[in-house]
Amino acid sequence: MFSLSGSFHGRSIGALSLTAQEKYQKNFRPLLSHIRHLPFNDVDELEKNIDQSTAAFFLEPIKGEGGVIPISQVFIEKLMDLKRRFNFLIVVDEIQSGVGRTGKFYAYERFGLKPDLVATAKALGGGLPLGAFIVSDALKDVFGPGEHGTTFGGNPLCCAAGLATVGIISDEDFLLSVDKTSNAFISMLYELKEEFDDVIEEIRGMGLMLGVDIAEKGPEVVTAAIDNGLIVNVTAGKTLRFLPPLIITNDHISEAYQKLRKTFRAIYRT
Ligand SMILES: Cc1ncc(COP(=O)(O)O)c(C=O)c1O
Repeated sequence: MFSLSGSFHGRSIGALSLTAQEKYQKNFRPLLSHIRHLPFNDVDELEKNIDQSTAAFFLEPIKGEGGVIPISQVFIEKLMDLKRRFNFLIVVDEIQSGVGRTGKFYAYERFGLKPDLVATAKALGGGLPLGAFIVSDALKDVFGPGEHGTTFGGNPLCCAAGLATVGIISDEDFLLSVDKTSNAFISMLYELKEEFDDVIEEIRGMGLMLGVDIAEKGPEVVTAAIDNGLIVNVTAGKTLRFLPPLIITNDHISEAYQKLRKTFRAIYRT
């Protein structure tokens, strides 16, 4: 089985074994064997390593904890091509990128990918704890109701919240509004880059899952931004990650701009 460098798939032993980040794995060894991590977006390495012994390939369409880095279209196309030859499973982790976050219900839709399994959680319950996995038709009989479970799984209240959330977020107009808001947020970040071009190295992401690479002082920016009333965090050491609510308005974006500008001025210009 394979996953990708810098990935984050969670903190159970199975998911940690796939998570290719030493800082999360180090206290929990031994982890599962037969899992290898390939370099992210490296098409040559993908081709070199996949063969008839490959059981499954796990990926995040856009790395979240690993620095808000989208998978490339060429990588996905090569993966689908190899799947046609070697018939392994493609498992997409949409736990962070799913449920409207990128302007599609699931981010994999942006790549024309057809996964065999999708892991989905976080926004799925609209704020209540809920996770699920979705399988293709070919896998639907692998196990049946009652053969697997979890103490808090299938809680009726959370499932009701999940149904309501899916109903609202799968609406095409709602998803289009996420794209529009994303464009406004990205323009705001480029405006900030005009003033702080020496600090901001790159802006990337999809929908309202956006990352800004900064040259230095990531943790200081996070603390100062929170003091100024803006919640942001830093991943992969230098990427400010923005995951605002999908319902933010242009006024909220202007407010975020003012707060970021104030924060950057305090950190980088004094
Ligand atoms: C991409 C991704 N997969 C899985 C998880 C779930 O992790 P955990 O089960 O530790 O909450 C997360 C949580 O942040 C995530 O971002």
